[in-house]
Amino acid sequence: MRFLITAGPTREPIDPVRYISNRSSGKMGYAIAAAALAAGHDVTLISGPVNLDPPRGATFVSILTSDEMHDAIHRCLRDCDALVMCAAVADYKPAKVSAQKIKKGNETLLLELIPARDILASLPKRDRHCLVVGFAAETNDIEENAQKKLREKNCDIIVANDVSRPDSGMESDANEVTIFFRNGEKERISRASKKIIARELVKILINSREKCLTKKM
Ligand code: CTP
Repeated sequence: MRFLITAGPTREPIDPVRYISNRSSGKMGYAIAAAALAAGHDVTLISGPVNLDPPRGATFVSILTSDEMHDAIHRCLRDCDALVMCAAVADYKPAKVSAQKIKKGNETLLLELIPARDILASLPKRDRHCLVVGFAAETNDIEENAQKKLREKNCDIIVANDVSRPDSGMESDANEVTIFFRNGEKERISRASKKIIARELVKILINSREKCLTKKM
């Protein structure tokens, strides 16, 4: 199976020295890439800036902004069987990028932000040949929010994690996730290292692919 996996944060520039980003470490996405490779699958990893070495054997695409992530995904989508959107893509970006460094002043500085493109929502809705797996980073009402993303972003599967806990989720080496399927089923992987979670997830995604594509789920 050919996996297209995204990982890490995006950076949205404000000026030549500043940007807006988030706390994503890339650990979960890189662990999924490593687990898929270890299980003998092809992996293309599209990654924002992180402090991790790309797993050996993966085709690696490095990006910075949400627009670069969007373009890289659309370039690679045709050649994949499962898209795993683990990256923490920006929701907003500065309306204008200043060509010069913005100088300090004594007045309040207001930054105008505009919505970034929602990559999952930009994917074809019908006749897809690949399984589309979104992630939902939530601090509250996890199930409700994850189910909403599953529907609204037209995903086959949503993997939800609680990012409010300091010992799990973002930046941590551990995680616990609940996987929501289109047919209303859900499956929980309880707290474990991201490596173990990744191994379980890859198994679940492989099993799900056929069923999701034939709409049996
Ligand atoms: N995502 C995306 N494009 C964006 C933002 C997010 O494709 N501009 C994807 C993420 O990669 C993830 C899923 O959408 O697979 C959910 O991301 P998340 O940050 O949990 O949700 P948002 O859609 O950003 O909504 P909110 O921040 O309001 O929870």
